Amino acid sequence: MQIVIADELFLKGKDIFLNAVNCSTCHLLKDANSNTNIGPNLNEIRPVFERVYTVVLNGAGVMPSYQGILAEEEMKAVSFYVSESANN
Ligand code: HEC
Repeated sequence: MQIVIADELFLKGKDIFLNAVNCSTCHLLKDANSNTNIGPNLNEIRPVFERVYTVVLNGAGVMPSYQGILAEEEMKAVSFYVSESANN
C-alpha cells in the first residue's frame, strides 16, 4: 500500500467532499462548512471510517454509490476525511 501522510489524505478527502463529488450538497459537516440536511448530520452521527466507506461504496437510499465514480483510494480519502473531521 502507498504511504500517504495523514494531513495529505485529509486534504485530499476534503477536496473530494467539497468539489469532486459534492457530498457537501447533502450533508452537514462543520469542517467543510456545509449546512444541508438531505442526508444525516455527520457531526451528529460521527461515523467511523468503516461506516463511511461502506456507504460510499454501496450507497443508501437517495445517496448514490461512488463505485466506478471515485477510485478506491479516493473513496478511502473521503472516508478518512469524514471520520476524522466528524469525530473531532
Ligand atoms: C444526494 C444526496 C447525497 C449525497 C451527494 C451524499 N449523501 Fe451521504 N447520505 C445521503 C442520505 C439521504 C443518507 C441516508 C441514507 C439512508 O440511510 O437511507 C446518507 C447517508 C450517509 C452516511 C451515513 C451512513 C450510515 O451508516 O448511516 C454517511 C457517512 C454519508 N452519507 C457520507 C457521504 C459521503 C462521504 C458522501 C460523498 C462521497 C455522500 N454521503 C454523498 C445523501 C447523500
